[in-house]
Amino acid sequence: MTTPRPAYDIDAWRRRIPLLASCIPMNNCSQAPQTDVTRAAAERYLDSWNRSGMDWDAWMAEVALAKDAFAKLIGAATSDIAVFGSVSAAASAVASALDLESERRRIVVSGMEFPGVAHVWLAQGRHGAHVCQIPVRDDVIEPNDYDSLIDERTALVSACHGWYVNGFVQDVGRIAARARAAGALSFVDAYQTLGAVPVNVRDLGVDFLATGTLKFLMGVSGIAFLYVRPEIVESLHPTATGWFGRVDPFAFDARTLDWSPNASRFDAGTPPVVNAYIARAGMEIIDDVSPASLRAWHEVLARRLIDGGRARGLVLHGTDDVSHKTATTAFVVPDSHGIEAAMRARGVLPSARGQVIRLAPHFYTTLDDVDCALDTLADVVRAR
Ligand SMILES: Cc1ncc(COP(=O)(O)O)c(C=O)c1O
Repeated sequence: MTTPRPAYDIDAWRRRIPLLASCIPMNNCSQAPQTDVTRAAAERYLDSWNRSGMDWDAWMAEVALAKDAFAKLIGAATSDIAVFGSVSAAASAVASALDLESERRRIVVSGMEFPGVAHVWLAQGRHGAHVCQIPVRDDVIEPNDYDSLIDERTALVSACHGWYVNGFVQDVGRIAARARAAGALSFVDAYQTLGAVPVNVRDLGVDFLATGTLKFLMGVSGIAFLYVRPEIVESLHPTATGWFGRVDPFAFDARTLDWSPNASRFDAGTPPVVNAYIARAGMEIIDDVSPASLRAWHEVLARRLIDGGRARGLVLHGTDDVSHKTATTAFVVPDSHGIEAAMRARGVLPSARGQVIRLAPHFYTTLDDVDCALDTLADVVRAR
């Protein structure tokens, strides 16, 4: 049997990631490694700052290019995108645009939200929201469990695309359609899927989709993007706002609260310029590799992790159906943080969360890397 290989030149990509010379990064669900192009992008900003003192026109153009790159990845237009410092801030801006004094006060929240996003919805209780959570059972959510809670009293449904704990992928297209049919809005946090799973917001039919860039998008912290469906944008007035949300921010008019006609009405203060340089470079890597090709390789890696983990006596957390998960694979372990530290000392970077250790490969990961990471994990668990 021939050894599977990705459709792209994996060796060429590996040469662009200096960290691979010293360790095996399996922590892409937390922070992807630096590449030559993301480093060069950061240096381009530093050079521009040093050379010109300030160059707001070029810096704002760079933020627009980052929005562009994000829009391209998700099948949207640049005008559908707003920029934030974090996904939590994006969710807060969305929450601030909801009218929770109407009959529609319910916010339906999947039990798979990242805590920071769930906290934003819970905080809306102070504005009259009734927050209902869809339970996680046996490490998955049954799609039908949403149905009874989505009705004419529902303002918004928040469904995380990929679960940060074990990579389980929810059918957010189905959930968004159910929400739309009931007149409710849908919000999707795609932080654990973008860069790992092809996403097209128009096909999914979601109203909002947010992500940061430091995981599978190969970027950094301190920048996040929000897609807002253009058909609804003009009906929304986020009260978490700022001067970049105006029709013309550079009018410097403190007396008039007008609203940009597109998603930039969700922009607030001065955008994260240096992060935008790096974020664009990271997203362009994903676009160059191609989301479809890397998803195909991720499925191979996920299969190897699941089967190889079982063969080594490790206890899988969540589904073994690779079509319903990302490549992030979690194993239940005692003292996950102690195990993470022991693995790091042996040159493998995993990511601990609660009772699990997560192994999250990416497009540059080889099958040998996976085997070595599993051997290291099994050894470290056995030694406890
Ligand atoms: C699914 C998901 N959403 C959100 C976050 C965090 O978002 P932020 O810190 O940008 O608010 C994470 C991880 O850090 C995550 O895995």
